[in-house]
Amino acid sequence: MAIPERFIEELSARCDLVDVVGDYVPLTKKGKDYWGLCPFHNEKTPSFSVSPDKRLFCCFGCGKKGVGAIHFIMEKEGLSFPDAVRFLARRAGMEVPETGEDPNYRRRRERLLELNKQAARYFHNQLESPAGADGRAYLYEKRKLSHGIITRFGLGVAPDGWDNLITAMAAKGYEKRDLLDAGLAVKNQNGRIYDRFRNRVIFPIINIRGEVIGFGGRVLDASTPKYLNSPDTPVYNKSRNLFALNIAKKSKQGRIILTEGYMDTISLHQAGFDCAVASLGTALTPDHAQLIARYAQEAVIAYDGDGAGVAAAQRAIPILEKTGMKVKVLRVTGAKDPDEYIKTYGAEAFAKLIDQSDNHIEYRLGQIQAKYNLEDNAQKVEFLRECAALVAGLRSPLERDVYGTRCAQLCGVTAEAMAQEVANERRRRQKAEEKRQMRRDLNPAAELQPKERDLRYENLKSARAEEGVLRLLMLDEGLFAHLGELKAEDFSSPFLGQVFGLFCQRHREGKPVEPELLAGQLAPEQVVRLAEILKSPEALSHGEAAMADYIEIIETERAKRREDIDPLLAAREKYLEKKSYGGRSNE
Ligand code: GTP
Ligand code: MN
Repeated sequence: MAIPERFIEELSARCDLVDVVGDYVPLTKKGKDYWGLCPFHNEKTPSFSVSPDKRLFCCFGCGKKGVGAIHFIMEKEGLSFPDAVRFLARRAGMEVPETGEDPNYRRRRERLLELNKQAARYFHNQLESPAGADGRAYLYEKRKLSHGIITRFGLGVAPDGWDNLITAMAAKGYEKRDLLDAGLAVKNQNGRIYDRFRNRVIFPIINIRGEVIGFGGRVLDASTPKYLNSPDTPVYNKSRNLFALNIAKKSKQGRIILTEGYMDTISLHQAGFDCAVASLGTALTPDHAQLIARYAQEAVIAYDGDGAGVAAAQRAIPILEKTGMKVKVLRVTGAKDPDEYIKTYGAEAFAKLIDQSDNHIEYRLGQIQAKYNLEDNAQKVEFLRECAALVAGLRSPLERDVYGTRCAQLCGVTAEAMAQEVANERRRRQKAEEKRQMRRDLNPAAELQPKERDLRYENLKSARAEEGVLRLLMLDEGLFAHLGELKAEDFSSPFLGQVFGLFCQRHREGKPVEPELLAGQLAPEQVVRLAEILKSPEALSHGEAAMADYIEIIETERAKRREDIDPLLAAREKYLEKKSYGGRSNE
């Protein structure tokens, strides 16, 4: 029986690879990764690593590797894909919908998404109508938002009244039942159904695929509740979506700024920080962190300056760090939140706040310190070694001095001794880096080749571009619209072509394109390769242009193959032909 795709998505998002592997072997964090004894073979020293950001597991001893919790369970428990899903579902306390995929389910989802889109358009249009006068005044005058920013975010207003939206949507063929399902209407005890959002300004929530999945609504005055949000629906889950990520994911700023509120995020965008996002009235979840980590290497937490904001930031830090992202915490002083700060002090002052934001060295030192008893001499040495590793990684000599000295003082040793330890560690790293560089210089092509023999590329140039196409599609499904005539047959690598075909098929069926979810259709090493492709850097800000470049390379290379003007290839084919002929005549 088929298990619904959506369930598998949900499950793989909920099952943290580190936790799942942790059921079998204890893991210890070292740098970005976790290490432990390999669960697949017997060993005395740990050579098994788990990278949470890539969701990869890999044993350097026996070579077993894969991606994602489902894949791990398939390998470890020797189960088929659906059985591994059932196994993990039991572990996560989720019930597998075994009735098979409801053929109506996808249609239902699409209908809700379409309704949301229509509703967003309705709310937005109301801003121009007489009924939207108060909302218009609120957004433009009270909150000082520009026409451009209101359009970019598709902000709107729900006029006062009980059934404005219900009536407007009825004209488009939607029933009350649909609005209830979409969370746009509510039913009271007497069975009366009315608009959820009334007399509020509206913030549409848009996912990374550009679909309107829910709404937030704010009152225009001091009444309560200040915000109303869509409930979780078949298309919306607040723990897995972030406000404005659809815009921020294309930012060129190389980081994501995480705020607590819609208004903070919008204000930041208006001030030029187009990488701001907000969690939707909920604490940051591991799913949020994973999502952010796909688009940026650095997260700046810019929560409110009050006690609740600071506490929320403290909770968010380890969740973000677990993905391997660099985490900074920005302190808003002299204003209650980033929105107010920008309005009071301006965008430049906020940029300074980002620069000054705590890079979390102190936080990390604190975490290291918590592991050791500094009264004990042996532990003191271990503590200093671990600190030296952290300090050695700091770019600025000044920082290394400041934090190195701090650690030395904690243990009552001289700053010089600590500096020496740090210098040694740096020298060791530099040597290792030089060695790596030398290997790259000696054999640049080998570095770019996949490690698995079966996945070797015939045409490296084309294969790079083919990987680029897949990577862009995984990062931004909007780019499916920019594929032109590109077909799987145009790919030089049969593997990449096959994946491309699968992607296109999934996209046509409205399914997300995630390497983990292809575990049932590809060989394990292929899934791993795909995860690696996804991790290479890609500037999404120029997604369309990059896509066009990649496609051009692929088509040029294909034309070369077609015209058979590659003499080397021809010679090789001839050689292979001769060899097989010779082989036969010898028999
Ligand atoms: P402004 O007061 O308009 O500047 O809003 P803000 O975005 O700064 O909001 P605030 O800091 O008060 O709250 C942060 C976020 O928590 C909001 O953006 C909402 O997502 C959520 N939130 C705030 N108040 C409520 C509420 O009464 N109900 C619900 N469900 N969520 C709320
Ligand atoms: Mn605010």
